Amino acid sequence: MKISEISNNKTSAGYILEPLKQKNIFEIDKQEFIKIFKEKGVIIFRNFNLNKENIIKFTDLFTSKYANDALRRTTRLGNKNIHNVDPGIKEMPLHSEASYSPSWPEIIWFYCNKAPLNSGYTTICDGQRIYKNFRSEIKKFFLENQVIYDLKIPFQLKQKNIITKIKKRPWHIDYPGVHDCYLNLRTNEVNFKLKRYAVVKDKYNSELSFVNHLQIILNRDPQVKKIYLEKKNAKFKKIMEEVKKISNEYIIDISWNNGDLCMINNQRFMHGRRKIHKNEERDIINIQTLKSSF
Ligand SMILES: [Fe+2]
Repeated sequence: MKISEISNNKTSAGYILEPLKQKNIFEIDKQEFIKIFKEKGVIIFRNFNLNKENIIKFTDLFTSKYANDALRRTTRLGNKNIHNVDPGIKEMPLHSEASYSPSWPEIIWFYCNKAPLNSGYTTICDGQRIYKNFRSEIKKFFLENQVIYDLKIPFQLKQKNIITKIKKRPWHIDYPGVHDCYLNLRTNEVNFKLKRYAVVKDKYNSELSFVNHLQIILNRDPQVKKIYLEKKNAKFKKIMEEVKKISNEYIIDISWNNGDLCMINNQRFMHGRRKIHKNEERDIINIQTLKSSF
C-alpha cells in the first residue's frame, strides 16, 4: 500500500492510502486501516475501485450503527444511509457533523462522485491541533464553559393515535445534557436544548479536541435555532475571533479525485467547504456512522 500525507505546506492531517497492486479493498487487512485511523483521525482511500455498489459494503465493516439523518437530507443511490452533503454553493465554516445533537456520529464518510476542479474543496481541521495551540486562557475558558444548542429536530410519529388536543407536550430524550424538551405535534418537531462542552476527549488517544458547532453560520442548519454559552461571558466574542484565526492556520483543503472515499473521526476533526463557483460541478455524498464497530 502506498501511504502519503494529506497536507498543505504548513500542516499535515491524516493519510491518503492507495493500492500498489491489490485494488480490491475487501482483501486488505481491516485492522491496518483501524490502526491508522485511530492514530491519524482521517484516511482517504484512493484508486481502490470503490463505487456506488460497494461503498456501503465497505463502511459496514467499520459501523455498528448508522446515524439517522434521513429526515434532513435527500437519500442517494437507493440507500437510506447515503445522503447528499449540505446543499448550496456558499462556503461552509468548520463544524463537526451534528455535534449539537445527541446523535453525534463517531465517523463521517465522504465519497467523491464528481470532483470539483477549482473550487468547493472540502476542508478539514484537526481539533487536537487547534486545542494544543490555544493559549492557556482560551483552554481554561472552554474547559469551564458549556455550550447550549437550542434545537428543533423533525420526527415522524410511529403511532398516529398519540395525537391529542395538546399540541406541545413535555418530553424527554435519554441523553445527558438534554433539557427543556417538548414534542411539538403541530410542526412534527422535537424542541430541546443540549448542553455540551466544546472540547472533548478523543476516544482513541485520550487527547482533547476542540470539536463543535461554534463556528457555523446559524441559518445554514435548519435544526439549530441558537447557540450560546450556559453562563453569559463578555469575553466570548473576542475568544471566538482568536479561535477562528487559529483554526484557519491548520485548515486543509482536500483535493478530491473521482472515486475517493474519505473517513473522518468526527469527534476529533471538523470539516467544512470552500465556496463553489457557479459553473463548477461537484458531487460528494455523505455517510454517517453513529457508532463504530471497533
Ligand atoms: Fe457537514
